[in-house]
Amino acid sequence: MTTQRVLTGITTTGTPHLGNFVGAIRPAIAASQDPATESFLFLADYHALIKCQDPAQVRQSSKEIAATWLALGLDTERAVFYRQSDIPEITELTWILCCNAAKGLMNRAHAYKAATQANEEAGEDPDFGVTMGLFSYPVLMAADILMFGAQRVPVGRDQIQHVEMARDIAQRFNHHFAPLFTLPEAVVEDHVAVLQGLDGRKMSKSYHNTIPLFLPEKQLRKAINKIKTNLLEPGEPKDPDDSTVFQIWSAFASPEETARMRADFEEGIAWGEAKRQLFELVNATLAPARERYYALLDDPGHIESVLQRGAERARAFSTPLLAQVREAVGISAMR
Ligand code: TRP
Repeated sequence: MTTQRVLTGITTTGTPHLGNFVGAIRPAIAASQDPATESFLFLADYHALIKCQDPAQVRQSSKEIAATWLALGLDTERAVFYRQSDIPEITELTWILCCNAAKGLMNRAHAYKAATQANEEAGEDPDFGVTMGLFSYPVLMAADILMFGAQRVPVGRDQIQHVEMARDIAQRFNHHFAPLFTLPEAVVEDHVAVLQGLDGRKMSKSYHNTIPLFLPEKQLRKAINKIKTNLLEPGEPKDPDDSTVFQIWSAFASPEETARMRADFEEGIAWGEAKRQLFELVNATLAPARERYYALLDDPGHIESVLQRGAERARAFSTPLLAQVREAVGISAMR
């Protein structure tokens, strides 16, 4: 059987929320169970340093994200699950690729462009507050991808450009030195829902409108009660397609339950009742994983041993490839 190699990184800033679960974690775990795919999943902790200079937060977030994936049943015997910083070959490759990637290409990366544009609008020097980490971010990401010969890279829309840059960098290296890199392709999962947050905009840490995935039961109920609704009274028909409550419901419910809720909306279900049902559903879905999650947070030694095992498996790929890359660029033992 020919298998597809699929790779995704998760930047270790912030606490996973319902939007991450529906949009990224759930589909990635499902894909990793497909015998036709070979999944590489990793904690992008060097990427975290670009956005976050608070060591406690980077540490805590790495732990929470690792515990989340394990609690939700990622099969780490199948998927290679590791932490970027445990693979020194990735940072070595980053430098070699830096010496090969065009600066002009990086000038066009949108994280960097957004920063310089904001500075210009504020009348500052365009590079004010811009670190080399932010500027070189796409090269580190290219190293993540090319190191493992990934063919498919599932990402959000904002990351497509980075995968295309990785492809560009790979092509240039292959042409100039030796054809060592597989050309990756970005995959945007159009069928997965982009969840709305408490205020109805996309659920995102930067909007402060998230519902954390493993909130304790009471707080989960409270958070769901805070979802913004309109002022329609019980008995007045409500538009399901304009409702965050319904949108989150459909991301968790079966098609039959979703059809039933749609009918209830049209018949004027009270907001309080719709939210109560939403809480029951989300809570029942997440409760078993939540219990495992808190047990894992209390046992960091276990998480660490899983990551170390993953690093060992990942390095079985990265060590030989990096040796070839070094050889190709002229760095090797004297002979
Ligand atoms: N930059 C990605 C993000 O913020 C995370 C990431 C790092 C990544 N390295 C990667 C994603 C490699 C895919 C492949 O979402």
